[in-house]
Amino acid sequence: MGKKAAAGDVEKGKKIFIQKCKQCHTYTSDCTNKTGPTLHGLFGRQSGQVAGFDYTDQNRDKGVIWGEDTLDVYLTNPAKYIPGTKMVFAGIKKKGERADLIAFLKDATK
Ligand code: HEC
Repeated sequence: MGKKAAAGDVEKGKKIFIQKCKQCHTYTSDCTNKTGPTLHGLFGRQSGQVAGFDYTDQNRDKGVIWGEDTLDVYLTNPAKYIPGTKMVFAGIKKKGERADLIAFLKDATK
């Protein structure tokens, strides 16, 4: 009480999404793929499963279930977690920023 929870801040996460992800990803239920696959329904889904999106074999074959833990590692350095991915994104080094973004995604991609 009085102390800020360690969980991410959804509002801050939304700003990070708009700055860093929105150019390539949607998350709404109309499920449009842009340069990247829609993130709608992301949590609990296996990597590489969005219909109609042309993934690399590396992304599809990674075979992880997307959730807070896997996204935290992935978003730190996507090309390290999935070598050969065509997602051109350097990563988010600050743990707090990743936590905010993941809190936003968890809410927004439902
Ligand atoms: C320049 C475009 C671009 C940006 C910016 C970008 N992505 Fe991606 N993203 C992609 C592409 C393309 C793929 C598919 C990669 C592949 O098939 O190798 C992808 C894949 C993903 C996946 C895996 C999806 C799945 O179904 O397996 C997640 C999760 C993801 N991106 C989240 C994010 C988040 C969160 C951000 C912002 C921090 C972001 N991306 C920024 C283009 C982008």
